[in-house]
Amino acid sequence: MDAQGLRDAYVDFFKERGHAHIRPASLIPENDPTVLFTTAGMHPLVPYLLGEKHPEGNRLVNFQKCIRTGDIDEVGDAGHLTFFEMLGNWSLGDYFKEESIKFSFDFLRDVLRIPLENLAVTAFEGAEGIPRDEETAAHWKELGLDEDRIFFYGMKDNWWGPAGQTGPCGPDTEIFYDDGRPACGPGCGPACHCGKYTEIWNNVFMQYFKDKDGKFAPLEQKNVDTGMGLERVLRIINGKETVYDTELFRPIIETLEEVSGRRYEDDVRSFRIIADHLRAATFLLGDGVMPSKMGQGYILRRLIRRASRYMSKLGYDGAYMDRVARVIIRDYSQAYPELEANREDICGKLTAEEERFHKTLGKGLRRFDEVVADCGGATVLDGELVFRLYDTYGFPVELTCELAEEKGLSVDLDDFENRFKEHQERSRAGAEQVFKGGLADHTDETTKLHTATHLLNAALIGVVDPGIRQRGSNITAERLRFDFNFDRKLTPEEVAAVEEYVNAAIDADMPVVCTEMPIEEAKEAGAIGVFDDKYDHIVKVYRIGDVSVELCGGPHVERTGEIGRFRIVKEESSAAGVRRIRATVGKD
Ligand code: ALA
Repeated sequence: MDAQGLRDAYVDFFKERGHAHIRPASLIPENDPTVLFTTAGMHPLVPYLLGEKHPEGNRLVNFQKCIRTGDIDEVGDAGHLTFFEMLGNWSLGDYFKEESIKFSFDFLRDVLRIPLENLAVTAFEGAEGIPRDEETAAHWKELGLDEDRIFFYGMKDNWWGPAGQTGPCGPDTEIFYDDGRPACGPGCGPACHCGKYTEIWNNVFMQYFKDKDGKFAPLEQKNVDTGMGLERVLRIINGKETVYDTELFRPIIETLEEVSGRRYEDDVRSFRIIADHLRAATFLLGDGVMPSKMGQGYILRRLIRRASRYMSKLGYDGAYMDRVARVIIRDYSQAYPELEANREDICGKLTAEEERFHKTLGKGLRRFDEVVADCGGATVLDGELVFRLYDTYGFPVELTCELAEEKGLSVDLDDFENRFKEHQERSRAGAEQVFKGGLADHTDETTKLHTATHLLNAALIGVVDPGIRQRGSNITAERLRFDFNFDRKLTPEEVAAVEEYVNAAIDADMPVVCTEMPIEEAKEAGAIGVFDDKYDHIVKVYRIGDVSVELCGGPHVERTGEIGRFRIVKEESSAAGVRRIRATVGKD
């Protein structure tokens, strides 16, 4: 079965069982500001998992393009990918564990023809008042799975979601392909990484909602959310050793061989990284992402630059990405017609970014070589060089680390981080010389403006771009001024949406609660704000209802209702890539 055959077989199987086939969504989530990318088929369905009625019914199926960048450094091994496809089926308050497990079992046995002895499954062992999932285990047993092929694990392995900080989630049963080799030791099981087990499908019994305080509340509607990894399954059913040996990657790798004149076997890791990254980049460009300094655009830029760098490692320094992208577009357009529709745009933008990087890469590499030659036998590169390569030559930090590693050097990452923070601090200091004055002046008005600043910060992240971060803040008795990273003017609709968000939080008269906690705990609580050395180990965290958790010295109002109407009076550029908002609070 080929990739399109697998997509069709999956969709048809579930259509025959009453599921409506829904189109794949964009890689850029539309209604979920808590994540940068669509990382699973469930993202576009969050409102329906929470109870809204889906126009197509309560049984859905699709294949979905996804991006996960958490393991980007692992790409190059046999299994990690940034871009992948997920086959998924959903029950929105319709069938639950028994039918979901039976559907999966029948598909694996009757359509994919995977023998029972090659399957192993897991179930949730229970935690935090949520019971051990004996029901799931019993269903698997009824279908013929031996007890010793059913493994129980806890929160870490058998709980899925939410995808962002808050949202629907629940215990799951994961289905693994066991390649039949002997166990690596007494503790070997699906959670082991020895290679015996490959996770192929995850059925989540989504019946909880995790809120901002980390509490789980039962959902009124019990859902099923499943996800099967297309690349992995394709590898298994076609008896390939790795996903890179499947038809999804072979044409890309062959094109790279032609361009570079090198063979895949000579440098497997470089070929894999380039193939993976360009697949992700092509799809991102196809969904309208532009390379940039932040958010999704920054990830795209990193993918392209890393691919460029690995190609030069293979000994080829010319432009080549356009050629690879055309192969990807050709092979994927049946499933994702938006690629074909945007073909020339994708190729043009890819080439432009590739050329842009070539210009700075050469200079940066020369600078790198000079410094290495000068470093007098030191084995650790100081953070200053790493910072300069980042700041002046646009070198992603991991690129510098890789270059260093090739020369047998390590990088002082702590030093780099400190310099990075110092630099941020300096830029901030420039923008907010009167910050201290503002803070010292604790009138009622400035106190209101402080709280309004937190709400504004949350609103920008929530309704404009999750990648937005504060770059500066200044408060006088009359107004607040807030600088943040963003590379274009806000639209009038965005300005209105931000005002509306803040005023809704004010109207809700939310409590503002201050807690002191160690900085690590604040990070875990998801607090935003400036985490740097100028804070002591114990920090003050202000929580405003369920909309904002932010590190701050205060002062703040006790309830948001005290603030009065919030109004943005100006939105303008403050520096390259930095926007500035001035806003007032008070009576209408
Ligand atoms: N949403 C579930 C996952 O990504 C199915 O594994």
